[in-house]
Amino acid sequence: MTIRFDWDPALETGIPELDIQHRELFRRANVLFAACVTGRGAEEIRSVLDFLGTHLHFRTEEALLTATGFSAVAAHARRHASLATDFQRLLRHLESVGPREHLLIRTNGFLLKELRHIKNEDLAFAPFVRAAVAARKA
Ligand SMILES: [Fe+2]
Ligand SMILES: [Fe+2]
Repeated sequence: MTIRFDWDPALETGIPELDIQHRELFRRANVLFAACVTGRGAEEIRSVLDFLGTHLHFRTEEALLTATGFSAVAAHARRHASLATDFQRLLRHLESVGPREHLLIRTNGFLLKELRHIKNEDLAFAPFVRAAVAARKA
């Protein structure tokens, strides 16, 4: 079984610091899938999941939304909090049962949610933030 998420250029927000982090999330997710499939050690899977604790990314994004005066920053932060809760469940699952096959399935589900978030919610603020950043530079 091979699972891969290939980065889709349509997911680019045009905001370099966010695009770099989104792409890295995808890259790490693919490392995790490969590790699950080949049965590599729990520590390797753990290190990937540690990175996928997207708190750093969420903070970066929320700080940018606040700095540019995006009106729906609180609602966006609530979506991040919901994803972070899902992720914490995933980590607890790893702690309790180890990196078994069903962890891959649950992680896959989590990453699909993350992908949908980028596509539907991050891309929704992208034009506003790009314009605000350009106006600041002008
Ligand atoms: Fe994001
Ligand atoms: Fe977001």
